[in-house]
Amino acid sequence: MRPIIVVHGGAGSWRVDSTLLDSIKAALENALLSGFRLSYSGSALDMVVESVKVLEDSGIFNAGTGSTVDLSGNASMDAGIMFEHRAGAVAYVRYPRNPIVLAKHVYSYTNHILIAGSAADDLARRLGLEPHPGPSERWVALYKDYIERIRRGERIPTHFSRSLSLWMNIGDTVGAVALDGNGRLAAAVSTGGIFLKFPGRVGDSPIPGAGFYANECGAAAATGVGEYIILSHLTLKVVEGICRGKDVAKASKEALDALTSRFGSKTAGIIAIDSSGRLYAAYNTEAMPWGYIDGSGKIALGGLPNPI
Ligand code: GLY
Repeated sequence: MRPIIVVHGGAGSWRVDSTLLDSIKAALENALLSGFRLSYSGSALDMVVESVKVLEDSGIFNAGTGSTVDLSGNASMDAGIMFEHRAGAVAYVRYPRNPIVLAKHVYSYTNHILIAGSAADDLARRLGLEPHPGPSERWVALYKDYIERIRRGERIPTHFSRSLSLWMNIGDTVGAVALDGNGRLAAAVSTGGIFLKFPGRVGDSPIPGAGFYANECGAAAATGVGEYIILSHLTLKVVEGICRGKDVAKASKEALDALTSRFGSKTAGIIAIDSSGRLYAAYNTEAMPWGYIDGSGKIALGGLPNPI
């Protein structure tokens, strides 16, 4: 079996100039190469965790050091992984720089699937994980601007948290799916959530079957409005479709179409892979930067936004 890894940097509107576009491409390629390198010594799980960690550290995407802020101006993050019929996830964490690493510790060292909030932060501290540097200057400036506008009584659209995040050059969430040399599949996702979300809000990313899912048939990772992804069981539907014999493209398209027809466009995206290494990426947003690297070392990128 030839290993393969697929990553994405988030579905969204992504208004970028050519410099930011180059940084997005470089970050995706770096994530693909870093994850793929582990295919020689590690499992599909090691591959997806490493790729997502690189995306978290890039600061470009809405995850890890690039995480957005909630209504209180703080970053809080969710992440999850799935491999060999087990999952590990963390929700509403504020301490770790790399929530995906903490999710892997939950998977490896506890009997649980999901640990949340301050207890998860304490666990990260006890494990000696690196602390998060706090929201980036870009997010702090954007937050101040929007809070000021809200205070001035400026009209903000209904459901503004969703609408704003779709307007503001940002993608949502990072993710990876991989097939290793032993034919095993894994999925991983990490996110800062949605701009101006209610403090304490948890999205789809730490929920197996919503933000991520993997079994022996396939693996899928989702991005977009978490509430819609949870209600659609998006990644579970994709992987179950593959298990029932659907082509990975058909399974992905059908699951995303069902979400779109219920909740509208500009809401979600997905990457998926099956046990033969066939892969697909689908999104109903303007862009969803994604890419893959296969056993021959070939890298391909897609879903990139047009620079303005
Ligand atoms: N898809 C990430 C979130 O809604 O939190």
